[in-house]
Amino acid sequence: MRLAHISDLHITDAPGTAGLTRPDAVTRARALMADLSAFPDLDLVVITGDTVNDARPEEYTVLADVLAGLTVPFLIVPGNHDDRALLRGCVPDRPYADPDLLFHAWQQDHVRVFALDSLSPGEVGGRLLPPQIDWLECQLARPFDGHTLVALHHPPCAAGMGRLDGPILIEGAGDLGDLLDTETLPATILCGHLHRPFTARFGHSMVWAATSTAFQFALDLGAPDEPPTVTEPFQYAVHLLDDAGGHVVHHRFPDL
Ligand SMILES: [Fe+2]
Repeated sequence: MRLAHISDLHITDAPGTAGLTRPDAVTRARALMADLSAFPDLDLVVITGDTVNDARPEEYTVLADVLAGLTVPFLIVPGNHDDRALLRGCVPDRPYADPDLLFHAWQQDHVRVFALDSLSPGEVGGRLLPPQIDWLECQLARPFDGHTLVALHHPPCAAGMGRLDGPILIEGAGDLGDLLDTETLPATILCGHLHRPFTARFGHSMVWAATSTAFQFALDLGAPDEPPTVTEPFQYAVHLLDDAGGHVVHHRFPDL
């Protein structure tokens, strides 16, 4: 199975006025959807939040149009820039496990993905509250012999990025780690939020963070202030997950 991971599209309907977001963010997002749609034999695209910049209805209208250009099945979770109800309205046809939050499960053959909702309204950091943790515990208890992935917006562990490491997953990270540590095959956590690509070990699991089409922070380890944005080649990860437990991650650098 082939799975691509992207994040932090920060779609705006007002190019040039949306904070750090590049004026060409929507154009780049459309080009990314075309690139993903042309990628051979891709089974799933995981989009880990901050789909829009300012959580306004007009932005979700643009987001829906951008996503219409993606011909590969996709999973989407909210980030701190999202509005839960508006995102649900934009992507209504999902087996959400809650009338409010957007967490749900996805499975194809030997791969299962738990899409989690770490949005905490009014906060930059994220939270996984006990009801969602309890749901995940029940899901993980089901007999399964394959790859387990979790998709959420906020990284569950620090990345050595100074100030940016403050508002990550500020509640529920320990519970998440404890649950995933019981998996026989190391679990994979897909996230975004820091607007830089990085990989980390988190207990028995591996964390893969995707960067953003809208803006990327400079690599400034331990910086006390928010780093400047930087223009670097955009990349996204493609995870190859075979039925013998093999897991290879490639990186594609599309010309957006
Ligand atoms: Fe973001």
